[in-house]
Amino acid sequence: MKFITSLVMLAAAAIAAPIASSSPKHFHLKSTGATNAEHNNLYVYAYHTGAGLNDAVLTSDINTASSVYLNGTNALFDLKTEFPWGVVAVGDTNYASWEPILINAGQGSDGFSVKGNNFQWSEASGFGGWLVCDWYHNAPQLFYLNRYYSATIPSSCSKVQLQAEYIN
Ligand SMILES: *[C@@H]1O[C@H](CO)[C@@H](O)[C@H](O)[C@H]1NC(C)=O
Repeated sequence: MKFITSLVMLAAAAIAAPIASSSPKHFHLKSTGATNAEHNNLYVYAYHTGAGLNDAVLTSDINTASSVYLNGTNALFDLKTEFPWGVVAVGDTNYASWEPILINAGQGSDGFSVKGNNFQWSEASGFGGWLVCDWYHNAPQLFYLNRYYSATIPSSCSKVQLQAEYIN
C-alpha cells in the first residue's frame, strides 16, 4: 500500500513538474479596430534605435512580429537575448495628449495586462487607449493616449486596440 501511494505521488509530481516550470505564454500584438484599414492587422515589433533602445513599430509581416509575454505586470519582448526587453510607456511630463511606447533593455513600466485578448496599460497611470501613427521610421508606430487630455487625432493616426494573439 505504501509502495502504491508513493508511486501515485511520484506520478503526480511528474505531471505537475512540467506545468510548474512552463514559461509564460507568448503572444504577438496585433492592431484591430482602426477606422483606417491601413492601420489594422499590423504586428508590433522592436525597431532598433540605439544600444538597448527600440521604438514600437508596426508591420504587416508576421515574421517580423516580436514575441511578447507578461511577467507580473511587466510586458517583456523576447528578442532572443539573455536579458529582458521591457515595454516602456514614456511618462507624460510634457502636457502632451499622447506619448511613445519604447522597448528598452530592462523590465520596462509596470501596469500592463491582457483582459480577454485585449492588451492594455494601466488607466491609473494615464492610459487612454492605443494610437498608431505613420511616423518617422517611415512606418506606423505605437503611442498611447493620455486619458486626462482630449486628443485631436491627426488624419495620419488611428485609435486601435491591441489584440494578444497567442503563439503556439
Ligand atoms: C520577472 O519578475 C521578477 C520579479 O520582479 C524578476 O525577479 C524576474 O527577473 C523577472 N523575469 C524576467 C524574465 O525578467
